[in-house]
Formats: sequence, C-alpha cells, structure tokens
Amino acid sequence: MIRRSDNTDPRIEREQGDVNTTDNRRKYWERNLSAEAKKWFDEDNKYFLHQSLSTPVLNVLAKARGSYIEDLDGKKYIDMHGNGVHNAGFNNPVVIEAVKKQLDDGLTFCPRRYTNIPAVKLAKKLAAITPAGLDRSLFCPGGSEAVEMALMLAKQATGRFKTISFWDSFHGAGFGAASVGGEEHFSGGFGPMVPGALRVEFPNYYRNPWGFSRQQDVDAECLRQIELILKREPEMAAIIGEPISATPVIPSKRFWQGVKQLGEQYGALLIFDEIIEGFGRTGKMFACEHFVTPDILVIGKSFGGGLMPFAGIVAGEKYNVCRHRSVGHYTHEKNALCAAAALAEIAYIEEHKLCEHAAELGAYTLKRLFKLQEKHPLIGQAAGLGLHIGIDLVSDRKTQKRATEEAEIIMFKCLEKGLSAKTIEGNILTLRPALVITQSEMDRSVDIIDEAIGEVEQGKKY
Ligand SMILES: Cc1ncc(COP(=O)(O)O)c(C=O)c1O
Repeated sequence: MIRRSDNTDPRIEREQGDVNTTDNRRKYWERNLSAEAKKWFDEDNKYFLHQSLSTPVLNVLAKARGSYIEDLDGKKYIDMHGNGVHNAGFNNPVVIEAVKKQLDDGLTFCPRRYTNIPAVKLAKKLAAITPAGLDRSLFCPGGSEAVEMALMLAKQATGRFKTISFWDSFHGAGFGAASVGGEEHFSGGFGPMVPGALRVEFPNYYRNPWGFSRQQDVDAECLRQIELILKREPEMAAIIGEPISATPVIPSKRFWQGVKQLGEQYGALLIFDEIIEGFGRTGKMFACEHFVTPDILVIGKSFGGGLMPFAGIVAGEKYNVCRHRSVGHYTHEKNALCAAAALAEIAYIEEHKLCEHAAELGAYTLKRLFKLQEKHPLIGQAAGLGLHIGIDLVSDRKTQKRATEEAEIIMFKCLEKGLSAKTIEGNILTLRPALVITQSEMDRSVDIIDEAIGEVEQGKKY
C-alpha cells in the first residue's frame, strides 16, 4: 500500500519554515509567476519528488549575486535567507576566481587516501581561526553529515551513546541528525530513530513554558533539566545545540558556561552546531566566541563559499582517537575545489572585515526594529546578534499569541516589494542577509518590513 502523508497539521510544518500549501501561497503564485516562470514551475512540480516545504517552490530563479537573488523576469529581491550559504555574498567574484584557478590548476576531486595542498591549507587555517583548543578538522559534503560525524566522534571518544539536544532545534535531515533534532516534522513516520536521544527546552527568555521573565530563572530551570538527565542517564556522550537558536533566541553566557561545566562534570562532550552561525554571522568569526569553546565545532553552509556543498567538524587534539574506526568516510572528504572555495570565502570575510560589519550593522538594524516595535503592536519582540535577527509577530502582546496568519501575509507582501525573508515557527520573520549587505540595503529592507506590517495592521488582506 502506498500511503501519502497528509498536510493537515499546519503546526508541525510551520516549525521549520513557511509552508507551500496555503491559499495565500496559491495567490502569490497567481500574481507573481509570469508565463515563462509558470512553465518551469510546473515542470519542477512534475519531475521532482515532492516533500513538504520544498516542492512546490516559491518561484524560479535565474541569478544570485551579492545580497540579491533574481527571478526569471529580472525582478531582484534582497535575500534575508539564502539558506545560510551567502555570508560572503552570492557568486562572490573572489570565490569564483579561486574556484576557476583550482579548475585550471588541474586538481578538483581528490581520491581518498591522498591529500592536496588546498585541503591541508584549509585544515590549518581552521585551526588558526577557531578558538584555542580546536585543532583538527574533518570535512564532508553537507551539514547533516557533519553533525553526524560530530555525534559519532563523541560516541567513540566517550564510549557512550546517549545525547542531549534541544526541542525545536534543527540539525539536518539525515537519519542521525534528525534523531537529535527537536522537530517531529523530520522524524515522524520513520519508525525508531537513533536511540538514546533525549531533549530539553532551549532557554527562551521571551517565550518559556514556566512564565519566567528573569533570565537567571530560565537558565536555572534549563540547567536543572540537563543535570537531572545527566544524573539519571549515565551513558551520556554529548550535549549538542546551536549556540543561538534559529529564531534567534540568544542564551546568556552563564547558560552555556553552566552546560559546559555540567558536561565536564558528567563526562559528556559539548558540540556546537554552527552551520548557520559560523563565519561571521553573529559578529564574530564563530558564535561560540560569545559563549564558551565547545569540544567539537560543526561548520557548513557558507563554509563552501556559497558555491560548493561543504561542511565539517573541528575538534580538540585529545579527540584524535579514531584510528580504529571511521566517523566520516566521505568521498568528498578532501575535495580540492571545495577547499579552494572555503579558503577564498574565509580570506574574503577576514579581508573585508565582515564580522565587524555584521556586528555593527546588526546592532544598527536592531535599533531600527526596536523603533518599529514602538509603532507596530504586531511586533512582540525583535532580537538578534550580528546579522542573525528575528521579529516575533504577535496578535496580542500580553498573551504573546503567535500572529501566524499575519506573518504569512507580511512575508508575501515583503516578497512583492523585493524582500525575500522566511518565517520560522509560523510567526517569526527571520533576517539573515549576506554579510556584504550595505546599510542602505538594510534600511530599504527595514522600510519594506515597516510598510508590510503597517498594511496588515490596517486590515489589508493578501
Ligand atoms: C543549524 C543547522 N544544522 C544543520 C543543518 C543541515 O545542513 P545541510 O542542509 O547542509 O545538511 C542546517 C540546515 O539548514 C542547519 O540550519
């Protein structure tokens, strides 16, 4: 029997992103797809296996450059999502040049059992730019695999198998990564996932189930839950989380210091998934620099220069313990083309001071959003660090009721005005632009959001 999964529970789907099954989505297509775009859209619909969130798509793209994506009709959008690959900007000419040079130099793929100069230089560079104590790397094609390498290394290093992760987190769609992810959307219907994956609440100071408003109370409760598990589940290999949540919720330094200390006390490693937050996004090269140094750092997305699929882990010397086992036996482990792209991306971020730019422009943008919050009751909270920002839209500030329908309309209005942004958890508009975005592009983006929210508050429907 072939069973089709249904889409009747919008809550589950909206956890990760905006959904493609609503009436507003249909209206968006009707209004915005030209005949040419519709032709390719229909073929995409016909020839790809559908999965929720991915197909049907929003629109058909022809180009991407810098902070912008461009559709088939030449309409440009400032891209606030970019799937996290566009830290140095889409189609960064310096990255493209480095990749072209590597193509001309004659070594692209490097068979396993051999190494090559770009791959070695890259591992050396990562040891230099990550915090002290992160010394050795392993690379692979995608983020989900990198998360799984980190988990497998932690399991080998500790001789244990259980993990603690956070509800609502996303660590990738592969079986191992989805097992520690906190969304039913990616694990439901597959039967038993990897055993031993336990979860706790992420410290959310704006929305938490206990009604706490003081940071220290939220931190204490979350740490209490973690310690309780560590005490009662002695086989704990690792605690894995994103330093900052995707929405974003920014935990206190005290929280992560507490987690690290508990991990050390009970013998569990700390793994930070910086697949989104690494390479300058939060205003530092790595988000962990705001908090504590993890035992294993996971990187991906922008690591490939916005061009190549590439990810990896960086761990301390003492975790170089897998002579007898493989935790990342990947065909593209030392792909020279990917390494050339990654080296160029890192050099570009350093040379153009994109970390500092993200910190400054992020702080400026938040100030503007706080001003918008004074005039728009729909904005419950604006939060972020660097260019990792979220606007939590609420229909009632007191009850913090999520303004899910309004958020979707705002998202489509923004798109039509030239701003591509994604909603997470249904109501949180997330802003993660390329780090090359200028202040005037950011101002334009905030103006568009201001207009779109204003129109919805005046009762305009989509
Ligand atoms: C935090 C985080 N971890 C892991 C992943 C998985 O990366 P990939 O899609 O490259 O497998 C993602 C992708 O969105 C992510 O955002």
